[in-house]
Amino acid sequence: MHHKIGVLTGGGDCAGLNSAVKWVTKTALDPYLAADKGLSVEVIGVREGWKGLVELDPVDPESVAKWTQPLDELAVRTWDRYGGTNLGTSRTNPFNPKNDQSRRCVENIAALGLTSIVAIGGEDTLSVAHKLYNLGQKVVGIPKTIDRDLNATDYTLGYDTALNVIIEEVDRLRTTAGSHNRLFVVEVMGRHAGWLALEGGQASGAHIILIPEYDFEMGKVADLLTRRREAGVRYDIVVVSEGAKIRGEGEVYLSDKADGFGHKVLGGIGAGVAKDLERLTGFETRHVVLSHIQRGGHPSARDRLMGRYFGIAAVDLILEEDFGRMVAYKNGEITSIPLKQAIEKLYVVDLERHYDVDRYNGRRSSLARPHAKA
Ligand code: F6P
Repeated sequence: MHHKIGVLTGGGDCAGLNSAVKWVTKTALDPYLAADKGLSVEVIGVREGWKGLVELDPVDPESVAKWTQPLDELAVRTWDRYGGTNLGTSRTNPFNPKNDQSRRCVENIAALGLTSIVAIGGEDTLSVAHKLYNLGQKVVGIPKTIDRDLNATDYTLGYDTALNVIIEEVDRLRTTAGSHNRLFVVEVMGRHAGWLALEGGQASGAHIILIPEYDFEMGKVADLLTRRREAGVRYDIVVVSEGAKIRGEGEVYLSDKADGFGHKVLGGIGAGVAKDLERLTGFETRHVVLSHIQRGGHPSARDRLMGRYFGIAAVDLILEEDFGRMVAYKNGEITSIPLKQAIEKLYVVDLERHYDVDRYNGRRSSLARPHAKA
């Protein structure tokens, strides 16, 4: 039997994508697999996510060369060491109601002779994967997003590297904040979910953490900070998620222009918070927006490994002809779930379990309840 697997990366780039593509390729082209199962397999990288499958003209060799890249072991040998995505990415939505190009996408999959697609992405990319599956396409998904907000998986590629960027940068800010007795507001990513702010803030020892799941009161933040200074601390770090909101107000956007999935670019809450806190507390305040720095750099060990395990599992699903599923990490194991379940809701911070609404920080209880007593 001959397989021709198309692999693509969509949505925001992050660390770990190249590792996943490498391991899809290496697993699919494993000579032992061919010998044991009598399979012949090709792997084709599709450039720039769903955009590649929409833009491509299958009868024009130049266009095919522009939007696809045959992958083999040698081509991907070193990929796992590098951040970003060597295949490129986009936020193109073939099912965009303003310009539906889903038919073209399906026709191009057939014209390229692709027998299956591995889509590596977050809620948007995987929602397209799910729709294509419903149209009869043989699709499997791999979860990635630094926001870690996909449902039914305990890990999404890129998260760990982004978290490590946050603690590195906050550590750097700490010395200058301390030298100047300043308050620093650090804005991190996280569109709807506060995981990066909450876990990045806790890991870096931030005093205040503001997340999208709980609308905060500026006066209360100022009080908490003032009390801390009165207790003798010379400087403060506040970590705020880009999607966090002041109670009674909306999200803060950098631009009103929306992408193909209807998302506007968030950003600016950190500057507003810094200004208000300086006014309310009288502390000299600066703000820093970590922005896309969180998506860059070399993948952490965890992202390289998870990229590897997810890539291998995606090929397993294809060989088992188990389509319409996303590989997932659940309770310490690599598994898979229906794509539908991955996208039906977002995985956000559970205030009851993870966030202390009085301290604006992580909860001071970590034992799961009920727990076994000796
Ligand atoms: O979805 C991941 C993410 O990094 C979000 O945290 C952020 O809001 C968004 O992407 C930024 O997207 P862009 O790269 O298009 O600016």
